[in-house]
Amino acid sequence: MKKLLFVGMLAMALPLVAAPKITVDVNRPGHAVSPELFGIFFEDINLSADGGLYPELVRNRSFEDSDEPENWKLVNAPESKTEIHTDTSRPLNPLNRRSLRVNLEGAASLINEGYWGMNIVAGEHYTLKFAARGADGFEGAIKAKLIGGDKHELGGGEISEISGGWKYYTLELTATGADSKAALRLDLSGKGTLFLDMVSLMPNKTWKNHGLRVDLAEAIDALKPAFLRFPGGCWVEGEDMAHMYNWKKTIGNVDIRTPLWNIWQYNATHGLGYHEYLQLCEDLGAEPLFCVNVGMSHRENVPLDLMDQWVQDALDAIEYANGPTNSLWGGLRAKNGHPSSFNLKYLEIGNENGRQPYRERWPLFVKAIRAKYPEIQLIANDWAGGYPKEPMPEMVDEHYYNTPEWFLRNAHKYDTYDRQGPKIFVGEYAVTRNTGHGNLRGAIGEAAWMTGMERNSDVVVMASYAPLFCNANHKRWPVNLINFDSAQWFGLPSYYVQKMFAENRGDVTLPIQVEAPVAVEPPPSGCIGVGTWNTAAEFKDIRVIAPDGNILFNSDFSKSSEGWKKLGRGAHWSVQDGALRQTTEGEFIRALAGDRSWTDYTLELRARKISGKEGFLILFHNQQDDERLWWNLGGYNNTRHVVEGGEASDSKNGSIETGRWYDIKIEVSGTRVKCFLDGQLIHNLDVRRTPMRTLFASATRDEQSKDVILKIVNSAADAVETEIDLNAANLPGTAKAIVLTSASPKDENTLEEPLKVSPRAEDFRFSGSRFTRSLPGNSFTVLRIRTSEQSARR
Ligand code: AHR
Repeated sequence: MKKLLFVGMLAMALPLVAAPKITVDVNRPGHAVSPELFGIFFEDINLSADGGLYPELVRNRSFEDSDEPENWKLVNAPESKTEIHTDTSRPLNPLNRRSLRVNLEGAASLINEGYWGMNIVAGEHYTLKFAARGADGFEGAIKAKLIGGDKHELGGGEISEISGGWKYYTLELTATGADSKAALRLDLSGKGTLFLDMVSLMPNKTWKNHGLRVDLAEAIDALKPAFLRFPGGCWVEGEDMAHMYNWKKTIGNVDIRTPLWNIWQYNATHGLGYHEYLQLCEDLGAEPLFCVNVGMSHRENVPLDLMDQWVQDALDAIEYANGPTNSLWGGLRAKNGHPSSFNLKYLEIGNENGRQPYRERWPLFVKAIRAKYPEIQLIANDWAGGYPKEPMPEMVDEHYYNTPEWFLRNAHKYDTYDRQGPKIFVGEYAVTRNTGHGNLRGAIGEAAWMTGMERNSDVVVMASYAPLFCNANHKRWPVNLINFDSAQWFGLPSYYVQKMFAENRGDVTLPIQVEAPVAVEPPPSGCIGVGTWNTAAEFKDIRVIAPDGNILFNSDFSKSSEGWKKLGRGAHWSVQDGALRQTTEGEFIRALAGDRSWTDYTLELRARKISGKEGFLILFHNQQDDERLWWNLGGYNNTRHVVEGGEASDSKNGSIETGRWYDIKIEVSGTRVKCFLDGQLIHNLDVRRTPMRTLFASATRDEQSKDVILKIVNSAADAVETEIDLNAANLPGTAKAIVLTSASPKDENTLEEPLKVSPRAEDFRFSGSRFTRSLPGNSFTVLRIRTSEQSARR
């Protein structure tokens, strides 16, 4: 029995369901699931390479981090007057200019604690390697020791007869004890001057013997990534052009790779360089997807007439990865240990670059690359102003960071996407707000969104969560999939969502219908604000009045604008003559006040335009920048008054005069909004949003096992008994359920409780082709349903 629930005046009728039901047409396979749908995105952010996947234990091994020998501690013996300084007088090589000078006057120790302690494991072997040169009569020895946090020695050895010019010295150390907070100590004695550079301590055991930290590499291997996007992110762009990622400086011997100040606040050694990324892809069985700088940084763009080098760098990157060994860059690849091609197929041009400067640079790359490497798939950024259409990209990269509710609400976004345009690569997505440090609720939002990508993987062909890694001691991004210290890691609940999707990929989609209850929506709420867009304006007498007449807010600009949160680039706010003034003619400038829990009220104020192209913005129901409404008075070059920001909007012709005070009133009650200008009602609209279902699902079939794979998200707080109808005859009635849920949607994993929110599996039986399952509140469930006796035995 179905009734229709009509909501508001908007075209959003949803059937009111008697009982939740999911119907799958098991015998009507649809389009193929993109084999490269689920991959990973590695950015050198949060110390995810140095201090993470790249297992160098010494921090600042090359003394390039600053003019001081940062992260190196000198401990003098009594009476010793030994000093240490960085030195550029006779570098190790022309590309590695700084070394450590030790003026030895008595016994002393140099101590390096690595990245918040070195993880030393009993019985494991470590290689200490450094370049040294002796001067002023130094002919001494270095005793190397692994020291535990409690100062106990965990192993050691000696390198003697260090003298003369730059030479490398190597020593293998075997750990006799364990400590995850150990340090390296170099004990020195004698007289003279000792120069040190490239002081490295590495575990001998690395993942697949290719130089990466084993547990972290295994953590990403477990995600079975179909591709790896690297090396960023904003890291590709850099804050300015001097700090952009340049792959050519990341290959070859590590002592010629120039460290670069990373946009995420540390010096990157490039030990994990272009070659190592490609090798990692090969070891993971993942397609490499390299992202190159498009001649744009966060603050500067390369002039168009200087772009040749950037285009050439992109061509050379392809040659390095794929070119024959008799080509310049292919030959270097072979010299670096990989004669065969890395088979690079995907190249992304730029990261989060847009507007005119991107539209001008994109064609330069496309023309040159398509002429020489027509087989390479080129990915454009879909950023400010949309993706460039000339020439048309093969794929466009969309990024989404938002709340769980945003992802739930947009889980059907791709159901109606343009199938004639380029394919979609969702290169970065994650719930980053209203999710604590990354809780179950965030994972539920992402899982719902991923069912939408899977159902629509004829158009969304690749997707990767972002960011992948975070050293817990250097968190520069709020929510990250895999968090670690020197010895351990844990995955967010989101990690298990990624894993469940990856382990249960199907080959073809199956048609699916979902009938589910409508989510209970809280009434719209939020604080208030005033703002400008390319205009200077002033505001006064701002009052918020509750329906019972209580004054919730009364502005006082007699002395200051205390209590107002000001946002927007270059904004200039001041108080003058009892009014709040904003005088920069920039875009999207706003000042916020009040309480986010306000629902029903009347906002009154007076506003006057001082100069500029538009009028003023009056914000209400403001939760955050992409979740708010505003009345845009004199918007669109002073041609219209528009209520906008939500699904519903209302636009009227109108303009704002300069120098005139206007009386503005906005009444909000439930989902009703009325806007008055000088006492005249201009807008009267319902801002209710489209009702949202609480179940999200996709269905696929594994062509080898013939299993039907159902992925179902219950975003409601409570469990729902859901009927699942497979529309098929003769099913053997055996299935497996893998369920991710927890006692509270706010539950998180931690280093102490890494598996608190992790999936549990159970086998179950049913008869016929229908059964009922209880889907816990805030849960993600994968059902693998056998379709033949043969598959049941697998
Ligand atoms: O994933 C973190 C950052 O988010 C990336 O560097 C950037 O592309 C995005 O803004």
